[in-house]
Amino acid sequence: MGDWESIFKKSGKVFLKIQEDMRRVISLLKKNKAKKILDLGCGSGRHTVLLTKQGFDVTATDVSKSGLKITRKWLKKENLSAKLKEHSCYETFPFKDDAFDAVISTQVIHHNFHNKVKFCISEIERVLKPNGVVFITVSANKYKRRASKFEMPEPRTYVPLDGDEKGLPHFIYTKTLMRKDFKNFQVLSLHKDKGDHWCLLGRLKEITPHVISPLSS
Ligand SMILES: C[S@@+](CC[C@H](N)C(=O)[O-])C[C@H]1O[C@@H](n2cnc3c(N)ncnc32)[C@H](O)[C@@H]1O
Repeated sequence: MGDWESIFKKSGKVFLKIQEDMRRVISLLKKNKAKKILDLGCGSGRHTVLLTKQGFDVTATDVSKSGLKITRKWLKKENLSAKLKEHSCYETFPFKDDAFDAVISTQVIHHNFHNKVKFCISEIERVLKPNGVVFITVSANKYKRRASKFEMPEPRTYVPLDGDEKGLPHFIYTKTLMRKDFKNFQVLSLHKDKGDHWCLLGRLKEITPHVISPLSS
């Protein structure tokens, strides 16, 4: 994914301020005694560093080598350690089923066509333990600020034709669609943040046991 790679190369750390709901998310994680956390699409590491500092066992992935390099350097500077891995969130995650107590992903998973985003959500479900916590933020706006021209190859999918994210699809969510795509989660809260992202805090539902109908025996 070339665009974010060049953004990190050009700008270094992007987003220094912690996402506005993160303190509340951390309180819930602590209350739930969560230990292993996946920061999916960690970028330059603002939440990887924060979560590691808070004592969680953090694994952070991103498709951008430069983002991971900045995160590694930041962790080192703070004398912290986390597991970092280069990986695209639209490929099968390199983790076992039920590997994490929580998955955090801020402003990442909407960077593709809807079918790819849904695949990523299914992988989040797979690597989360039952009752595991998710905090996901995705784009809710039509990207007027990011570029002057767009094309829309699929419904709700905007591809900037100029600017830093030129050529990178952005799938734009509605509240209804969030509930639909995250139907396997109990929604604890769903709101827009100041940056116009849907923020979903949820818990993976336990799998309903398969009931064998007496008629089928
Ligand atoms: C807006 S930044 C957010 C970074 C970080 N989550 C944060 O909140 O600071 C978007 C991030 O998504 C990452 N990204 C884009 N496509 C990705 C993919 N296919 N797999 C993993 N990360 C991806 C980019 O490299 C970038 O780090």
